[in-house]
Amino acid sequence: MGVLVTPDVRYHASWIVGTAEFAGQHLDGAGVEHPDVPALMHPEAFAALVARLRADALEESPRPEGWVPATALWIVHDDEFVGFLQIRHRLTPFLLEEGGHIGYSIRPSARRRGHATEALRAALPIARALGIERVLVTCDEDNIGSRTVIERVGGVYEDSRNGKRRYWIDTA
Ligand SMILES: CC(C)(COP(=O)(O)OP(=O)(O)OC[C@H]1O[C@@H](n2cnc3c(N)ncnc32)[C@H](O)[C@@H]1OP(=O)(O)O)[C@@H](O)C(=O)NCCC(=O)NCCS
Repeated sequence: MGVLVTPDVRYHASWIVGTAEFAGQHLDGAGVEHPDVPALMHPEAFAALVARLRADALEESPRPEGWVPATALWIVHDDEFVGFLQIRHRLTPFLLEEGGHIGYSIRPSARRRGHATEALRAALPIARALGIERVLVTCDEDNIGSRTVIERVGGVYEDSRNGKRRYWIDTA
């Protein structure tokens, strides 16, 4: 089963192959904006991405206006990258309505093996350590996979806003 790890250059090879699988797909909520996979094959470029992801957890790091610090994590299985998970440290008005605290994506070839369920469960104590007592997790109304994941991990449905189902999960 998978574990959550801090981004690290040691996952370069499987990250490249895994991320390329997302081509043409959305990386919904995972905090990754269509990475330039060919450019990131260069070790220096990849190391810079890793450094940027790690720095994004720090309050003082530069980020677009209105964005909040976020902890970027990778989901690994058998020492290979299988997906992304991101924990936003606090809610903005947009995150409260739609985005939630936590987003994740599993590489297509590794889906339906329980990775998202396990990763979301493993993210809860990490969120707790960040001072978040209740996480908001959202999914599109028609995202049956993500909805099942959230409900399996104990998400309590509050309501739907703008086509997003909104769930709260206690991190204690
Ligand atoms: C949604 C997503 C994260 C699920 O990841 P996953 O690792 O495949 O999920 P799990 O294996 O933990 O699935 C748990 C359960 O959800 C249900 N499920 C998952 N994907 C499903 C799908 N495509 N259709 C129907 N049910 C699905 C199943 O009941 C599954 O359990 P089972 O395989 O024992 O039947 C993954 O499909 C993904 O990355 N999608 C694109 C990005 C995305 O939607 N992210 C979530 C944003 S809120």
